Amino acid sequence: MIVPATPDSIRSAAEQLRSGAVVAIPTETVYGLACAIDAPEAIRRVFELKGRPSDNPLIVHVASLEQALTLADVADHDIVRRLGSALWPGPLTIVVRRSGLVSDAVTAGLDTVALRMPDHPVTREIILQAGVPLAAPSANLSGRPSPTRAEHVEADLRGAVMVVDAGPCTYGLESTVVRVLGTQVVILRQGALSAATIESALGTMSVRAASASDEVHRSPGTRHRHYAPNVPVVLCDSPEQIGATIEAHPSERMLVLCSADAIAALPGVPTRELSASSLFDEFRRAEALQVDRIVVLCDDNVRTDAALLNRLQRAAETSHAS
Ligand code: TXA
Ligand code: MG
Repeated sequence: MIVPATPDSIRSAAEQLRSGAVVAIPTETVYGLACAIDAPEAIRRVFELKGRPSDNPLIVHVASLEQALTLADVADHDIVRRLGSALWPGPLTIVVRRSGLVSDAVTAGLDTVALRMPDHPVTREIILQAGVPLAAPSANLSGRPSPTRAEHVEADLRGAVMVVDAGPCTYGLESTVVRVLGTQVVILRQGALSAATIESALGTMSVRAASASDEVHRSPGTRHRHYAPNVPVVLCDSPEQIGATIEAHPSERMLVLCSADAIAALPGVPTRELSASSLFDEFRRAEALQVDRIVVLCDDNVRTDAALLNRLQRAAETSHAS
């Protein structure tokens, strides 16, 4: 059931979470499927509702730096303080060694926990009123695009939980997941916060993408099948290549996604504007329209956005377009 975010529904969501229920909540990145971290049965239900592999840990959402510190091992408090005070609230998830307050059920048995303070007044109020940190993966079925609107959650979970609706998510892509190794911030999952933004906020620390030798530190979730709409996705480098793809499949209904700048280069082609914040919504729209193929123009606007490019490449890889 979708309920608009109001003082009453926020209070009700917080009460339900406190008493061990699962509730879908808005954040600035994507909608999350939330439960209290001290409610083992609710945590189990989150995995079950999503069909999430049991080896994929959950992100824990907090309302303050102090609350985050209670969940981190003392040895990592400096890291949480340093990154958290520079970049929270916001779409940054920090992986640190966990304290005794975080259970194996949340971390899938890892000795680390992923922490995030969302930058959304409704999320913040729900966490505050619940009085407990909230574990919340994205509120999609496992393997589906993350939900950026309440309706997406309702469609995937078919009314199984209350969805607090605060409208479309501002970022529309998931948070950036990082781990500090020595003096370096290693990006385990590209996301809404760019490496450049993280680097400029942190000054002396350098930021780099996880490399093959960091394999053990990779976010488990990035190994799983992800972000694939039911419709094949094809990436093209130029308007000419899009034209050729359309010509090669004359009987197909296609949806072309391209940046606002490129629409003029594709006269007569049915296009939708592509942006990081609208990508998952467009994927779901294409499914609803039952088009045969999604064709995406990956021009410089796209190639310079690491998170957007990453999600597009994953969708194209797993969609087996011919
Ligand atoms: O923006 C977001 O991050 C959204 C909103 C709801 O906050 N949440 C989200 O959660 O995207 P989820 O579960 O879909 O993705 C969490 C990612 C997964 O790739 C998971 O493997 C990784 O974070 N992760 C969680 N705990 C981890 C840990 N201890 N070490 C490494 N990666 C971890
Ligand atoms: Mg997810």
